[in-house]
Amino acid sequence: MLKLGNGEKIGLLNDYRDEVLEDLQNMEYEDVATKWSEKLGISVSKNTIWRLASHYNKLKKKDVSLHGSPSRRSSMVCGRNTAPYKGGYPGGFLQKIDKLLQIREGSRVLHLFSGSMEGRENEDTMDIQETNNPTFVADARETFPMDDNTYDYAVVDPPYDLVENTRHKRVEITYGNALWATEAIRPYAWCDETVRVTKPGGFIAILHHLVYKTLPGCARVHTASVTTGPNMRIRVVSIFQKDTDLVRGLKDKDEFKLLEKRQQALDDFLVSSVRMEDMMEECFGAEAAEEFRKEYL
Ligand SMILES: C[S@@+](CC[C@H](N)C(=O)[O-])C[C@H]1O[C@@H](n2cnc3c(N)ncnc32)[C@H](O)[C@@H]1O
Repeated sequence: MLKLGNGEKIGLLNDYRDEVLEDLQNMEYEDVATKWSEKLGISVSKNTIWRLASHYNKLKKKDVSLHGSPSRRSSMVCGRNTAPYKGGYPGGFLQKIDKLLQIREGSRVLHLFSGSMEGRENEDTMDIQETNNPTFVADARETFPMDDNTYDYAVVDPPYDLVENTRHKRVEITYGNALWATEAIRPYAWCDETVRVTKPGGFIAILHHLVYKTLPGCARVHTASVTTGPNMRIRVVSIFQKDTDLVRGLKDKDEFKLLEKRQQALDDFLVSSVRMEDMMEECFGAEAAEEFRKEYL
């Protein structure tokens, strides 16, 4: 049997997508996976078939992920930030997050990189600048001053600093210094600590230009694009759920480790590709999006 990476497998399967999706009309995911494994001479899991169907919005049953939301992806149209604080949240963003995550009175919430925000009762704020008067004045690149498993929700608005230096391109975006005179922060510098202080089963929502990779010890539950009007850069909120003890126990078993690694790679690959593809279509039309699909999916 041919050994291929996840991206290559999806790419190959995508060439036959009409037939695969047709098969799903009257066959189970597992049976479709077996059929296409034999047909293509590669090992296709039922999960891969599910991903393909999810990508084309052709799931047999609509997925129920975040508190019964029918989709893992959505979009939020927000207002521009009108607060005097530079880099403040888009207008209406926090209200939409409350609704999406169903944050209730009594939920323990951490607002990380809280800037000008004042937390409500049961909410803590953390920022490096004392003048913002947060609950915790702390550097998010270091150990957080809170206990493990403290919060039901962490809502995170980091500086959108980014340095990417690859063979093909160099991108350097440093908002932090110009806006708040803070040092640049790597996009993943604060993630482990945020996961640590979130309760098992709790949610972490991150607003950034990056679609975040699945955080360690978590699962991706929702990805929403955030727009604030013409000529403004698009942002995205990535939402993860920290594994419960039960899920962690399962993941610790050897037979789950391989599966999880594969699934996670595929998850990260598809979520970001889906967004790119949507943007391609919007910007350059269906033909360009199809080219992109062929090349990357
Ligand atoms: C995008 S702004 C957040 C604004 C906030 N959402 C609001 O509505 O006001 C980013 C915040 O990160 C803070 N910050 C920058 N570097 C930090 C670090 N290393 N640790 C903690 N906070 C930091 C800045 O002081 C700034 O307030």
